[in-house]
Amino acid sequence: MPSIDVSPLFTPLTINGTTIPNRFIMPAMQRGWAENDGMSDQTIGYYLDRVNGGMGLLISEGVIIDHDAGYVDIGEMHMRPDTYDGWARLGEVIKGAGGHFLLQLWHPGAVRMDGQGRYPDIAPISPSGIFNGEPRGRAITEQDLEDLTAGWVAGAVAAQEAGLDGVEIHMAHGYLLHQFLWHEMNRRTDGLGGDGMADRLKFPLRVLQAVRAAVKPDFIISCRVSQWAEWDYDAKIARTPEELETLIRALDAGGADMLHMSTRYFHNPEWPDLHPTRTLSGWVKEFTDLPVVTVGSVGMNVDLMQTLYSDRDELQTIESSVAELLPLFEDGQFDLVAVGRASIGDPELVTKIRDGRFDEIRPFTRADIFDIAGDLDDHGVPEEILKLAQQAADSGD
Ligand SMILES: Cc1cc2nc3c(=O)[nH]c(=O)nc-3n(C[C@H](O)[C@H](O)[C@H](O)COP(=O)(O)O)c2cc1C
Repeated sequence: MPSIDVSPLFTPLTINGTTIPNRFIMPAMQRGWAENDGMSDQTIGYYLDRVNGGMGLLISEGVIIDHDAGYVDIGEMHMRPDTYDGWARLGEVIKGAGGHFLLQLWHPGAVRMDGQGRYPDIAPISPSGIFNGEPRGRAITEQDLEDLTAGWVAGAVAAQEAGLDGVEIHMAHGYLLHQFLWHEMNRRTDGLGGDGMADRLKFPLRVLQAVRAAVKPDFIISCRVSQWAEWDYDAKIARTPEELETLIRALDAGGADMLHMSTRYFHNPEWPDLHPTRTLSGWVKEFTDLPVVTVGSVGMNVDLMQTLYSDRDELQTIESSVAELLPLFEDGQFDLVAVGRASIGDPELVTKIRDGRFDEIRPFTRADIFDIAGDLDDHGVPEEILKLAQQAADSGD
């Protein structure tokens, strides 16, 4: 018998017409296993194992939309006509196993450095041509806005044709759409940037609306949003609950079906001075009836950036995390929970949680992602990003 009653997390939830059997999601995680920028058998097997292990909904690693300024070349996948077949192959396997799957679509923007990647002559692009306060690459033009929007749309339509359940638009962690949402990186004066959230959200919203218009009504669109950037844990795209409300209401009205609120620690209150226990997802639930996802160090004592950039001891804490999640769930602070590293550690994680077999869960260690974490610099992750992220990881929480 389970030592805690986990049954509330094993109730189904319907997202835009698709019923997910439980509340567990595997979030997007790069594995570096792309073949010719596309699907590999290793990737298909890895996802299939998690479907069979009880994961309610899987989200692919971030796949870059078809755009020349998107190539960072860290072993990532790209969405292009010549990679579509692989996704169709995956779609068939997932459907055959009764699973549910979203494809995450992203663009790095100014996280890509000058001269980085396969097209070194193509400048990095970002809302204002700046990164971390310094000039980088060039500011996005109206033509870029059109090309980028078309890239997201083409990727989503291809995901639909591949038989997947939906897409996730990556607006988090410091990448391109997050750069638009963040006042420090988006200093545009053309109505798409500046101090007001209502302006900064316009381009991410345009992408969402264009994708919504191009796919079938029952195709799921998730938006992944974070406050933090990979090199700046104190970043806040929404400085106040009012800014958050503006963003969330716009995404809801713009056609999102699910909001995936990415934090480093799921239990941290977002504005402790305003509410001692309300997490970021809890605040979002105040502003929408859409399903809201929480994430961040479920089952782990250190956060993802410390896994990647520090040598702190990693301990598995699944049972205590689940015990902490349950009251937040009862309190209506989230609808679904994404579990990243722990689901890399054990493909049967969800089934073992359901059965209370916590002792049998294989712990995740950073060695499980050594392909990525061990050689980040060999994979072309810019030195500057490594340095900033390491500083952030070393500085603790
Ligand atoms: C190796 C690795 C790669 C990741 N790649 C992505 C990605 O492509 N897109 C994304 O939105 N998040 C990415 N993440 C973040 C995870 O989706 C997740 O938010 C994070 O690991 C926190 O969850 P956890 O503490 O349960 O691991 C990645 C995380 C890891 C460990």
